[in-house]
Amino acid sequence: MTRTPDNRPHLTVTLTINGEKRELDLDARVTLLDALRDRLGLTGTKKGCDQGACGACTVMADGRRVLSCLTLAAQCEGREITTIEGLSADGALHPVQEAFVRHDAFQCGYCTPGQVMSAVCLLTEGRAGSDADIREFMSGNLCRCGAYPNIVAAIRELAGDGDA
Ligand code: FES
Ligand code: FES
Repeated sequence: MTRTPDNRPHLTVTLTINGEKRELDLDARVTLLDALRDRLGLTGTKKGCDQGACGACTVMADGRRVLSCLTLAAQCEGREITTIEGLSADGALHPVQEAFVRHDAFQCGYCTPGQVMSAVCLLTEGRAGSDADIREFMSGNLCRCGAYPNIVAAIRELAGDGDA
């Protein structure tokens, strides 16, 4: 790490985002969320509270969900970061996204990328055993539009199918 002439900590990090290596020169204090949105143009990941309370900024790091607003970009060197843009290939929707559409599991859509990323991890972890489990393990993702029953229904369908 170096210091800029005005004494800001500065470094170069190589991030693997959606399978692609991206090298960034940035202030050591830049969050993963700001690096994704402001430096890499990946604006699918949303900034809600910017303090770890809403889940809108959820992405995957090595297959586990993380809040990108509480994660420094510099901490992600060597980790596989997946954002909503990288969830599926060639413009196709991921099964979780398809289920959200089928169940009308959004209104304004602002929380939806974070909800989808959390739902994918929840299903992968095998934690969607009941509606109560789904609500518990999705409780870090807030939805101001109150689409909760539909979100639970979408996840329940996939948990039942073992399809995600
Ligand atoms: Fe990260 Fe709200 S923006 S938790
Ligand atoms: Fe609007 Fe969730 S769909 S905040």
